Amino acid sequence: MKALVTGGCGFIGSHVVRALVADGWDVTNLDKLTYASNLRNLDEIAGHPRYRLIEGDVCDPAVVERAVDGQDLVINFAAESHVDRSLLDPLVFVRTDIEGVVVLLEALRKRPNAAFVQMSTDEVFGTLPAPLEAAEDAPFNPSSPYSASKAAAELQVRAYAGTYGMAATVLRCCNVYGPNQHIEKFIPLFLTRAMRGESLPLYGDGRQEREWIYVSDLVSAVRLVVGQLPAGGGLQELHVGSGERRGNLDVAERICDIVERPRSLITPVADRPGHDRRYALDAGKLRAMGWRAEVPFETGIQLTAEWYRANPDVWGAAASAGFADYFREQYGERLSEPRPT
Ligand code: TYD
Repeated sequence: MKALVTGGCGFIGSHVVRALVADGWDVTNLDKLTYASNLRNLDEIAGHPRYRLIEGDVCDPAVVERAVDGQDLVINFAAESHVDRSLLDPLVFVRTDIEGVVVLLEALRKRPNAAFVQMSTDEVFGTLPAPLEAAEDAPFNPSSPYSASKAAAELQVRAYAGTYGMAATVLRCCNVYGPNQHIEKFIPLFLTRAMRGESLPLYGDGRQEREWIYVSDLVSAVRLVVGQLPAGGGLQELHVGSGERRGNLDVAERICDIVERPRSLITPVADRPGHDRRYALDAGKLRAMGWRAEVPFETGIQLTAEWYRANPDVWGAAASAGFADYFREQYGERLSEPRPT
């Protein structure tokens, strides 16, 4: 069986590419090699006979037509995914996250035998007051340019499934963490900075809550879903949630403890505009299909810390591409004027 994975050099994509190759799939990875892509994430399968990389953009119809041709399955991980960057430069999110999906859907429309899986996010529901959890039919209420783009992408998938009867699955996942994640994201940013004894810029009061899933649990969800794709067309929506919900301050403190640095590194800074307080998914539908999250947060965060400690050459390869400039733009002012605790 043949699969196209888009964005396979990124964090989640790279784990899924390796899992599918291990499972016997013939995998093509279409990746634009943006700042968030890291070829080192795929070192271990780079020369594998059932793996090939196409460097290209999901927004380029000619490249996508060629890449989709002959595939049994297309999984779309190609996306701009960092909320903070979507505040600095929203148009690139509209382009890759929305236009890219439509280009993929257009190519798939002509190939009704290929199934489509779209990776989405709990952020499409916006902030949810406790103790609410979003089920698959909860209303969209995105608040950042990133989450609005992912919601719009989902609506396009829904439209193609409804209009053309295309077989499509949308997986909405909570916050993912683990090896290979770009260090712009909360957990790897705090881990790598704490290891060097640098300040940890915590937005606002740090009481925002996120649901955290270790990347291998998301991979097991993808494996299960691609092994049980529904026969016939139409849209399937599934939530990949771990139930492991933590406040950001708690996560930051745990990180300091694990890397044996003082909690005083945590520096409250100006909040992210429009910052959602809480995300929470109801993953009952996927659990009823036989899936379980297996890695508790406490285990996952220790595995992640060990990986970042042991692999500075891997994550450093991605971090070198303009990260210092981004960090200065995003945090320079915030860190020069820390808020009183
Ligand atoms: P992030 O990893 O950007 O994921 P998302 O915003 O998509 O959930 O951030 C996770 C949480 O951590 C979020 O509530 C914002 C917060 N955060 C900080 O407090 N400081 C930071 O420097 C970053 C990157 C995130």
